[in-house]
Amino acid sequence: MTGWRPGAAVLLLPVTLLLSWAHSSSAWTCGQKRSTKPEKSEILEITGGEPANIRDCPWQVGILYQGRHLCGGSILSEWWILTAAHCFINRKVTDIQKWRNCWVTGWGITTTRHSMTSELQKVNIKLIKWKTCSHIMPIFTRNMLCAGSPQGGKDACQGDSGGPLVCQKKTNQGIWYQLGIVSWGVGCGRKRLPGVYTKVSNYLSWIDTETAKSGKPYVHERDSGYGLLLSPWAILLLYFVILLLPL
Ligand code: ARG
Repeated sequence: MTGWRPGAAVLLLPVTLLLSWAHSSSAWTCGQKRSTKPEKSEILEITGGEPANIRDCPWQVGILYQGRHLCGGSILSEWWILTAAHCFINRKVTDIQKWRNCWVTGWGITTTRHSMTSELQKVNIKLIKWKTCSHIMPIFTRNMLCAGSPQGGKDACQGDSGGPLVCQKKTNQGIWYQLGIVSWGVGCGRKRLPGVYTKVSNYLSWIDTETAKSGKPYVHERDSGYGLLLSPWAILLLYFVILLLPL
């Protein structure tokens, strides 16, 4: 199952739901409309258009993200949806909306003492959109995330590297997730110069592989990183359960 990607997982769910509806109606041929009513106009406009019946365009799917409409798509087969790449490219970035209460901790340099501290310090910071940081920071890759406070003054600093940036999910406030590893910054706590962290979710499979190689595999939580990533097996199971339901 190494060929699975998060995007594929995201795509399959709407197909599953749509197909269960399609199967419960009578059979239809690919590319054929269900309605026999004549078209008002053969020019299908969306700006300046008119309400459409889904039965007239049974190939159409709506792709939802966190319960909201994200993009349109079309059914290629029972397994595949065709859609635009940009619908998914920055999805993980806007994930930041689902996190709250982020903290970074460490024994690094503090502003008051200008030296390392023997007492562990914590500071509450906010995750910042990838795009914003990619404009501000001199180097910013997809394997990085950034966080800070709008007024500055809250940040990790020298000596904090390697330590965790943890947050809670808005939907589940009981669990803490490590989203980042303290990495670098331009100075510390400067206004409009957030701290940069290694994005842990991009390294989950690397962690799996490396720890497995050493014979002591670390098995990460199913929803580590991003909750949208249902396992391919779970999606397959859901697919069959929903298909078999009307029988
Ligand atoms: N590289 C530093 C270290 O070795 C961490 C710097 C973090 N800087 C920041 N502004 N967040 O400890």
